[in-house]
Amino acid sequence: AELKIHGSSKKKSSSSPRELRSRKWFGPNVNPSMGAIYIERYLNYGITQDELTSGKPIIGIAQSGSDLVPCNRYHLELSKRIREGIREAGGIAFEFPIHPIQETLRRPTACLDRNFAYLGLVEILFGYPLDGVVLLTGCDKTTPACLMAAATVNIPALVLNVGPMINGYHKGELSGSGMVVWKGRELLSAGEMTRDEFVEYAATGTPSVGHCNTMGTASTMNALAEALGMALPGSAAIPAPYRERPQCAYETGKQIVEMVLTDRKPSDIMTREAFENAIVVNTAIGGSTNAPIHVTAIAKHMGVDLTVEDWDTVGYEVPLLLNMQPAGEYLGEEYFRAGGLPAIMAELLDAGKLHPDALTCNGRTVADNVRGKHSWDRRVIHEYSKPMLENAGFRHLSGTLFDSAVMKTCVISEEFRGRFLQNPDDPDAFEGPVVVFDGPEDYHRRIEDESTPIDEKTLLIIRGTGPLGYPGAAEVVNMHPPGRLLKKGVHSLPCIGDGRQSGTSGSPSILNASPEAAAGGNLAILQTGDRVRVDLRKRRVDILISDEEIKSRQEKLNAEGGYHGPESQTPWQEIFRKETDQLSQGMVLREALKYQRLAQK
Ligand code: FES
Ligand code: MG
Repeated sequence: AELKIHGSSKKKSSSSPRELRSRKWFGPNVNPSMGAIYIERYLNYGITQDELTSGKPIIGIAQSGSDLVPCNRYHLELSKRIREGIREAGGIAFEFPIHPIQETLRRPTACLDRNFAYLGLVEILFGYPLDGVVLLTGCDKTTPACLMAAATVNIPALVLNVGPMINGYHKGELSGSGMVVWKGRELLSAGEMTRDEFVEYAATGTPSVGHCNTMGTASTMNALAEALGMALPGSAAIPAPYRERPQCAYETGKQIVEMVLTDRKPSDIMTREAFENAIVVNTAIGGSTNAPIHVTAIAKHMGVDLTVEDWDTVGYEVPLLLNMQPAGEYLGEEYFRAGGLPAIMAELLDAGKLHPDALTCNGRTVADNVRGKHSWDRRVIHEYSKPMLENAGFRHLSGTLFDSAVMKTCVISEEFRGRFLQNPDDPDAFEGPVVVFDGPEDYHRRIEDESTPIDEKTLLIIRGTGPLGYPGAAEVVNMHPPGRLLKKGVHSLPCIGDGRQSGTSGSPSILNASPEAAAGGNLAILQTGDRVRVDLRKRRVDILISDEEIKSRQEKLNAEGGYHGPESQTPWQEIFRKETDQLSQGMVLREALKYQRLAQK
């Protein structure tokens, strides 16, 4: 596959040179008593006064890798090549850490840290003399946290992800990160695997440095950063250990300096057109259900009008082109060798599905970057006219159970379709009795209990798992059926919840339901045994009980003080619960939206 990282191109011609932001700290007009203080401490590790004061662009490197964040840890190496690129192009690099966000270790959930890291990064980008920043991303929430902050501050910013791990294998079969955990859990629960065997099996999905090698939230959000124009074309899919990755790091360092010199900012790149391109791309790659949450958040901080409904209207009728787990078979290495994201976007461009003129980080348009970059490997990246699946986007659903939820339709299996969507009179609808769980602990406690009334027609409901109920919103809606059904070959039941689910999950859950139970949504009044109806054509999910009954249950719950999740355990959890909006609104900090384009103020 030909995959070339582009360097700088067109430069804006400006007659009067713009004063760099860092000159307010290091320029000749700074009050000498303060200027000395700004400079002196930075000399103590060997930077010279001349380097700081000569007017070279000062470029931040926002380091997200550490021992606590193994998914991004290889960035500690990659940043050396970024520094060389920055220096080569005439800039000065300042590397600094951001708050760690590790998907797999952080309790109660890593998503609690997305807004925390965002706030911290905004303060750093605004409060220090940075002219531009390279955002080192990878693991799921690191990418949106960085892009949200870049949007708020609006200094030139460029994303470099760490890249997916190489392929993992188990007994000759591909082991996709995350996917093997879900499969292993089923085997464990069906009694076919011991705890030690489970750990060993799960680790086959973790064969090298890098982020998840499936199209989970990490690969998705980094593909969307590239689709938005915020990462070099062709960069997102490069596997972490490949030689192209440090080469790309070097090009990223050079490119950010060019972006500072031409003043190409997030607001020039992340336009409504760019966000629509990202939504279309998300369907074509079979992207994560976390994407609508994070992309909505980035758009809100950028001041671009975008709603979850746009994912259905703009993205539903796009075909699935990428054959990668969880929606398909392959992993990151095949995806990269088949041409990576530019090969996907070349198909979408030819089909008229992209805004071709959207500006990207390198000064070229989307069309300039991807035109003609079609894949040679049609097992992995399908032609637009011969897709994996037509109409493969998210359905946006509403009804009496919630105002907003999404369903990833491209992961509906034939087995699931056979049990729930085969009524000839009504092929897009199903209904059934529900079993309600209050959070993941309740689910784990009762799922294997014989007295929990679950059969192959039951709908599983989980509540108390939204941003307020379970601060950060738990990734738990993909609930597997009890072992007794798994043994009979029933691998999935419809799941509905106010939480999220892992991007590596192949479950067609109805999730991100807003308002959540803890925010007064009707999930709170649902009882085990009630019937719920899902109609994908009408895009509705309704409780099949009378309006009077709904009203009286609401009144009773309100009299009891409403639905509550567990107590906050830390100061931030309490602040988060007070200040944070629902998943349909991107789970942003409401107050933060008042502050936009800080670098221009
Ligand atoms: Fe970190 Fe998947 S868990 S990238
Ligand atoms: Mg996850």
